[in-house]
Amino acid sequence: MKGKTIILGITGGIAAYKGAALCSKLVQAGFDVHVIMTENACQFITPLTLQTLSRNLVYTDTFDERDPAVVSHIDLADRADLILVAPATANTIAKMANGLADDMLSTTLLAATCPIVVAPAMNVHMYSHPAVIRNIQLLAERNVRFIAPETGQLACGYVAKGRLAEPESIVASISDMLREGASKPLLGKKVLITAGGTVERLDPVRYLTNDSSGKMGFALAAIARDYGAEVTLVMGRTSERPPDGVSLVRVESAQDMLKAVLVRYPQSDMVIKSAAVADYRPVMRADKKMKKSGDRLVLELEKTTDILQTLGEQKTKQYLVGFAAETEELDRYAMDKLQRKQCDLIVGNDVSQEGAGFNSDTNIIRIYDKDGIVESLPLLSKLETARRIIALAAERMANREAGKAGR
Ligand code: PMT
Repeated sequence: MKGKTIILGITGGIAAYKGAALCSKLVQAGFDVHVIMTENACQFITPLTLQTLSRNLVYTDTFDERDPAVVSHIDLADRADLILVAPATANTIAKMANGLADDMLSTTLLAATCPIVVAPAMNVHMYSHPAVIRNIQLLAERNVRFIAPETGQLACGYVAKGRLAEPESIVASISDMLREGASKPLLGKKVLITAGGTVERLDPVRYLTNDSSGKMGFALAAIARDYGAEVTLVMGRTSERPPDGVSLVRVESAQDMLKAVLVRYPQSDMVIKSAAVADYRPVMRADKKMKKSGDRLVLELEKTTDILQTLGEQKTKQYLVGFAAETEELDRYAMDKLQRKQCDLIVGNDVSQEGAGFNSDTNIIRIYDKDGIVESLPLLSKLETARRIIALAAERMANREAGKAGR
């Protein structure tokens, strides 16, 4: 990232202290980092810390013009290859959404024409407040990219979503975004990703589903997008906000997902099936709410179509990546699924491990090809896990295409 200039905007939340680690990692990655701090950020961490780490002057005041040859906020906005606001408070996000410019950071943001990336950090109730959701949507529509906060211990005492994404993940994400067009490994490729859990209805108010939050699939979609792909995300039931910059198709049941995927399959170059799809659905679905009667109720279930297996059977040019969620004998079951469903790669997910699988922000996976284990990854954020999966799949797909072209 040598020669790339980043403006790092630090705003006034407790996560401002992480701005120091973030700044240091950006400098280590080769960026020329210029820090702007809001007045409130200076309550949590000093400009001297950021000046020392960035080896550049830190800006806190719009009127503190140090070079008479330029207007600082315009000069910084013009020089930036990217502006990163991390941590971003609800207040700063609201100012950005409404075009306010009452301090050095908001004024620079308004003058910027480069990509802007925002990593929010705040209390869970603030993050899920309709005003904040609306402001984030508004900014996403204006092509501002968001790096979602993670779930964990918040400074306010809650264990919930709102913690700033890890500095390593933020640096990796913006490095991917800044890759030159030519080196985006999935440029011009169509990638279809499934995420979340399916819903199989018993009656209008009751259903069978699973614990999938969609986080793994959303991380894959965000990384594929940053690698230059045109991404379609077929999503079942999820508890998360999908990434911006991808086409969304919302489905409910395994049958809906099958239809949505099959219709897009012929045009797809790569398909990644991270969704947790129901293996069985109720044979009968009542039109009206089922009445309570008797001490026992026996549900009769029938098999759903295995979408991944169907894709494997109909494969032409597509690079097919499946998932295998297991609680025992990961290697054996994952390899069996890879072969039966004719996948090029399968991501084995031992969901019984702490920090792995459903609903967590982290995962522990093994990736297999037809010859066995290719990579065994430790506990990583789902974003970093997704990066490793996409990088490997993109490389393998490119090698296969090059091999075919060479013949
Ligand atoms: O969404 P998160 O909370 O982030 O959790 C992530 C995850 C645990 C859901 C994800 O990492 C994962 O493991 N996804 C696969 C879940 C699953 O359904 O695994 P499976 O072993 O039952 O299925 C094997 C493969 O076949 C999967 O690619 C699945 O999408 C596919 N399948 C299964 C049944 C079916 N009827 N059709 C399918 O396509």
